[in-house]
Amino acid sequence: MQFFLDTANIEDIKKYSTWGIIDGVTTNPSLIAKEGVSLEKRIKEIAEVVKGPISSEVISTDLDGMLKEGRAYAKWAKNIYVKVPMTAAGLQAVSVLSKEGIKTNVTLIFSAGQAILAAKAGATLISPFIGRLDDISEDGMALIADIVKIFQNYKFPTKVLVASIRHPRHVIEAAKLGADIGTMPPAVFEQLVHHPLTDSGIKKFMDDWEKVKNKQ
Ligand code: G3P
Repeated sequence: MQFFLDTANIEDIKKYSTWGIIDGVTTNPSLIAKEGVSLEKRIKEIAEVVKGPISSEVISTDLDGMLKEGRAYAKWAKNIYVKVPMTAAGLQAVSVLSKEGIKTNVTLIFSAGQAILAAKAGATLISPFIGRLDDISEDGMALIADIVKIFQNYKFPTKVLVASIRHPRHVIEAAKLGADIGTMPPAVFEQLVHHPLTDSGIKKFMDDWEKVKNKQ
């Protein structure tokens, strides 16, 4: 399973890249807006740090605008994936961009039907948002199970990028289902590292060592 960092914060991206477990980065307009920098500047900065896929989302909602932005983003670095919302215009944009060899990520997927359409349009990645489904009392993980099964049935090459991950349980469940990628905010990486028994175990080892360290 690949792990992507879901942030546009360059300090966090630099920090977690040193852990050796980050395969890519996802951004969206809300994450870029939080940083107060231009999209182009920030995506280029991220591309200097991360060699894996970097998702950069189009702002236009019409086909021509999406194509113009997507083609421009693809020139910023070799590893840019053009993130396109799941709309009729978005599907058309993905179909055109994928034929031009530009990698795409169809975002805001909330149903298996949307996932099938995106895969048929030629999306490289699709982003089902599981946390936001859970927020409205739907079952986000059931959607991942459906999409993984359907993509296996038809051998779609499109990869399932589980997005809107809120906690480690989401990561484990998605991994058990065989999802290709999970994108998560820095806080979830921190939660994944820590376990109270690991922390208390280290303390006990260190305390015991203190008692004998000066003995010959
Ligand atoms: O990048 C898209 C997605 O991961 C957003 O997550 O927490 O805003 O629902 P969230």
